[in-house]
Amino acid sequence: MTHRPAPSHRAVSNPVVRALLAGGAALMLACGGPGGGGASAAETPAETAPEATQESAPLMQFEEANGFEIYQRYCLVCHGELGEGDGFNAFNLDPKPRSLVDDYMRTRVSDRELTEVIRLGGRKRGRSPLMPPWGRTLGDRQIRYVVSYIRLLQRKAQAAAETSGEEAAETGQ
Ligand code: HEC
Repeated sequence: MTHRPAPSHRAVSNPVVRALLAGGAALMLACGGPGGGGASAAETPAETAPEATQESAPLMQFEEANGFEIYQRYCLVCHGELGEGDGFNAFNLDPKPRSLVDDYMRTRVSDRELTEVIRLGGRKRGRSPLMPPWGRTLGDRQIRYVVSYIRLLQRKAQAAAETSGEEAAETGQ
Protein backbone atom coordinates (compact mmCIF):
# COMPACT_ATOMS: atom_id res chain seq x y z
CA MET A 1 0.00 0.00 0.00
CA THR A 2 2.36 2.67 -1.12
CA HIS A 3 -0.16 4.69 -2.97
CA ARG A 4 -0.06 8.20 -1.89
CA PRO A 5 -2.28 10.86 -3.35
CA ALA A 6 -0.33 13.94 -4.24
CA PRO A 7 -2.84 16.71 -3.92
CA SER A 8 -0.28 19.41 -4.46
CA HIS A 9 0.11 18.80 -8.14
CA ARG A 10 -3.14 17.09 -8.89
CA ALA A 11 -5.29 19.36 -10.96
CA VAL A 12 -8.82 19.43 -9.70
CA SER A 13 -10.82 19.06 -12.82
CA ASN A 14 -14.28 18.67 -11.49
CA PRO A 15 -16.23 21.91 -11.24
CA VAL A 16 -18.24 20.73 -8.27
CA VAL A 17 -15.11 19.91 -6.37
CA ARG A 18 -13.58 23.18 -7.42
CA ALA A 19 -16.61 24.93 -6.01
CA LEU A 20 -16.32 22.94 -2.83
CA LEU A 21 -12.68 23.82 -2.58
CA ALA A 22 -13.42 27.47 -3.05
CA GLY A 23 -16.05 27.23 -0.37
CA GLY A 24 -13.66 25.46 1.95
CA ALA A 25 -10.99 28.06 1.45
CA ALA A 26 -13.45 30.82 2.14
CA LEU A 27 -14.55 29.00 5.24
CA MET A 28 -11.01 28.65 6.49
CA LEU A 29 -10.51 32.34 6.03
CA ALA A 30 -13.79 33.15 7.63
CA CYS A 31 -12.98 31.03 10.64
CA GLY A 32 -9.72 32.80 11.27
CA GLY A 33 -8.01 31.95 14.49
CA PRO A 34 -9.39 29.71 17.20
CA GLY A 35 -12.04 31.42 19.20
CA GLY A 36 -11.40 34.72 17.48
CA GLY A 37 -14.86 35.85 18.40
CA GLY A 38 -15.36 39.21 16.78
CA ALA A 39 -16.61 38.39 13.33
CA SER A 40 -15.98 41.53 11.40
CA ALA A 41 -18.84 42.90 9.44
CA ALA A 42 -16.35 44.14 6.90
CA GLU A 43 -15.86 40.62 5.60
CA THR A 44 -19.50 40.19 4.82
CA PRO A 45 -20.00 40.84 1.15
CA ALA A 46 -22.11 43.85 0.39
CA GLU A 47 -25.72 43.12 -0.12
CA THR A 48 -25.64 43.15 -3.83
CA ALA A 49 -27.63 40.71 -5.86
CA PRO A 50 -26.39 37.17 -5.27
CA GLU A 51 -24.78 35.44 -8.19
CA ALA A 52 -28.08 34.45 -9.57
CA THR A 53 -27.05 32.10 -12.32
CA GLN A 54 -24.49 29.97 -10.62
CA GLU A 55 -25.77 27.28 -8.40
CA SER A 56 -23.52 28.95 -5.92
CA ALA A 57 -21.53 26.61 -3.76
CA PRO A 58 -22.67 26.92 -0.20
CA LEU A 59 -19.86 27.21 2.24
CA MET A 60 -18.98 23.96 3.76
CA GLN A 61 -19.71 23.57 7.40
CA PHE A 62 -16.76 23.17 9.69
CA GLU A 63 -17.12 19.41 9.88
CA GLU A 64 -17.51 19.03 6.16
CA ALA A 65 -14.47 21.15 5.44
CA ASN A 66 -12.38 19.01 7.73
CA GLY A 67 -13.91 15.90 6.27
CA PHE A 68 -12.98 17.15 2.83
CA GLU A 69 -9.32 17.31 3.79
CA ILE A 70 -9.41 13.82 5.20
CA TYR A 71 -11.31 12.45 2.25
CA GLN A 72 -8.82 13.95 -0.20
CA ARG A 73 -5.96 12.36 1.60
CA TYR A 74 -7.29 8.93 2.46
CA CYS A 75 -10.37 8.07 0.48
CA LEU A 76 -10.20 9.73 -2.88
CA VAL A 77 -7.73 7.26 -4.39
CA CYS A 78 -10.37 4.58 -4.34
CA HIS A 79 -13.70 6.29 -3.97
CA GLY A 80 -13.09 9.16 -6.38
CA GLU A 81 -13.41 12.90 -6.11
CA LEU A 82 -17.16 12.84 -5.86
CA GLY A 83 -17.48 9.54 -4.07
CA GLU A 84 -18.71 7.72 -7.12
CA GLY A 85 -16.35 4.81 -6.68
CA ASP A 86 -14.09 5.86 -9.51
CA GLY A 87 -10.87 6.85 -7.84
CA PHE A 88 -7.73 6.31 -9.85
CA ASN A 89 -6.93 3.22 -7.85
CA ALA A 90 -10.38 1.76 -8.29
CA PHE A 91 -9.66 -0.20 -11.45
CA ASN A 92 -7.25 -2.24 -9.39
CA LEU A 93 -9.82 -3.44 -6.96
CA ASP A 94 -12.24 -6.30 -7.07
CA PRO A 95 -14.84 -5.68 -5.86
CA LYS A 96 -14.73 -2.06 -6.82
CA PRO A 97 -15.25 0.53 -4.17
CA ARG A 98 -18.91 1.21 -4.42
CA SER A 99 -20.45 4.58 -4.93
CA LEU A 100 -20.80 6.40 -1.66
CA VAL A 101 -23.34 8.77 -3.11
CA ASP A 102 -26.09 6.64 -4.61
CA ASP A 103 -29.62 6.59 -3.24
CA TYR A 104 -28.96 3.51 -1.22
CA MET A 105 -26.02 5.00 0.61
CA ARG A 106 -27.87 8.25 1.05
CA THR A 107 -31.10 6.87 2.41
CA ARG A 108 -30.45 3.42 3.81
CA VAL A 109 -27.09 3.61 5.44
CA SER A 110 -26.99 5.41 8.74
CA ASP A 111 -24.21 7.60 10.03
CA ARG A 112 -23.46 4.92 12.53
CA GLU A 113 -23.08 2.25 9.87
CA LEU A 114 -20.84 4.51 7.85
CA THR A 115 -18.79 5.22 10.90
CA GLU A 116 -18.38 1.55 11.65
CA VAL A 117 -17.34 0.46 8.21
CA ILE A 118 -14.85 3.31 8.08
CA ARG A 119 -13.46 2.54 11.49
CA LEU A 120 -13.37 -1.23 11.20
CA GLY A 121 -12.89 -1.70 7.49
CA GLY A 122 -14.65 -3.95 5.03
CA ARG A 123 -13.56 -7.28 6.40
CA LYS A 124 -15.01 -6.77 9.87
CA ARG A 125 -18.29 -5.73 8.31
CA GLY A 126 -18.52 -8.76 6.07
CA ARG A 127 -17.40 -6.82 3.06
CA SER A 128 -14.28 -6.66 1.01
CA PRO A 129 -11.00 -6.39 2.92
CA LEU A 130 -9.93 -3.98 0.22
CA MET A 131 -11.79 -1.36 2.18
CA PRO A 132 -9.15 -0.71 4.81
CA PRO A 133 -9.88 -0.12 8.48
CA TRP A 134 -9.21 3.49 9.39
CA GLY A 135 -9.68 3.31 13.14
CA ARG A 136 -5.97 3.50 13.80
CA THR A 137 -5.36 6.30 11.37
CA LEU A 138 -8.37 8.46 12.07
CA GLY A 139 -9.83 9.38 15.41
CA ASP A 140 -13.55 9.32 16.13
CA ARG A 141 -13.83 12.98 15.44
CA GLN A 142 -12.07 12.72 12.11
CA ILE A 143 -14.33 9.87 11.13
CA ARG A 144 -17.31 12.00 12.03
CA TYR A 145 -15.94 14.73 9.80
CA VAL A 146 -15.48 12.43 6.89
CA VAL A 147 -18.98 11.04 7.35
CA SER A 148 -20.41 14.53 7.17
CA TYR A 149 -18.37 15.17 4.05
CA ILE A 150 -19.81 12.01 2.50
CA ARG A 151 -23.27 13.35 3.33
CA LEU A 152 -22.37 16.57 1.58
CA LEU A 153 -21.25 14.66 -1.51
CA GLN A 154 -24.53 12.78 -1.40
CA ARG A 155 -26.54 15.98 -1.37
CA LYS A 156 -24.48 17.26 -4.28
CA ALA A 157 -25.02 14.07 -6.21
CA GLN A 158 -28.72 14.16 -5.52
CA ALA A 159 -28.99 17.77 -6.61
CA ALA A 160 -27.06 17.00 -9.78
CA ALA A 161 -29.27 14.00 -10.50
CA GLU A 162 -32.39 16.07 -10.05
CA THR A 163 -31.28 18.74 -12.46
CA SER A 164 -30.20 16.31 -15.15
CA GLY A 165 -32.55 13.47 -14.46
CA GLU A 166 -32.57 11.43 -17.61
CA GLU A 167 -28.97 11.87 -18.52
CA ALA A 168 -28.01 10.75 -15.08
CA ALA A 169 -30.12 7.63 -15.32
CA GLU A 170 -28.53 6.70 -18.63
CA THR A 171 -24.94 7.17 -17.67
CA GLY A 172 -25.25 6.09 -14.09
CA GLN A 173 -23.50 9.22 -12.96
C1 HEC B 1 -7.70 0.99 -1.09
C2 HEC B 1 -8.97 1.48 -1.58
C3 HEC B 1 -9.90 2.15 -0.59
C4 HEC B 1 -9.65 3.26 0.19
C5 HEC B 1 -8.35 4.04 0.28
C6 HEC B 1 -10.88 3.54 0.88
N1 HEC B 1 -11.84 2.64 0.55
FE1 HEC B 1 -13.75 2.63 1.20
N2 HEC B 1 -14.11 0.93 0.13
C7 HEC B 1 -13.21 0.31 -0.70
C8 HEC B 1 -13.83 -0.84 -1.29
C9 HEC B 1 -13.17 -1.80 -2.28
C10 HEC B 1 -15.14 -0.90 -0.78
C11 HEC B 1 -16.20 -1.91 -1.13
C12 HEC B 1 -16.28 -3.00 -0.12
C13 HEC B 1 -17.35 -3.99 -0.54
O1 HEC B 1 -18.29 -3.60 -1.20
O2 HEC B 1 -17.20 -5.16 -0.20
C14 HEC B 1 -15.27 0.23 0.13
C15 HEC B 1 -16.40 0.52 0.85
C16 HEC B 1 -16.58 1.65 1.61
C17 HEC B 1 -17.78 1.97 2.34
C18 HEC B 1 -18.95 1.05 2.51
C19 HEC B 1 -19.96 1.11 1.50
C20 HEC B 1 -21.01 0.08 1.85
O3 HEC B 1 -21.17 -0.82 1.07
O4 HEC B 1 -21.61 0.18 2.92
C21 HEC B 1 -17.60 3.18 2.92
C22 HEC B 1 -18.57 3.96 3.77
C23 HEC B 1 -16.26 3.60 2.60
N3 HEC B 1 -15.67 2.65 1.80
C24 HEC B 1 -15.70 4.76 3.02
C25 HEC B 1 -14.35 5.06 2.89
C26 HEC B 1 -13.72 6.21 3.49
C27 HEC B 1 -14.43 7.27 4.30
C28 HEC B 1 -12.41 6.15 3.16
C29 HEC B 1 -11.31 7.10 3.58
C30 HEC B 1 -11.12 7.27 5.00
C31 HEC B 1 -12.22 4.97 2.33
N4 HEC B 1 -13.42 4.33 2.19
C32 HEC B 1 -11.02 4.60 1.77
C33 HEC B 1 -11.92 0.72 -0.96
C34 HEC B 1 -11.28 1.78 -0.36
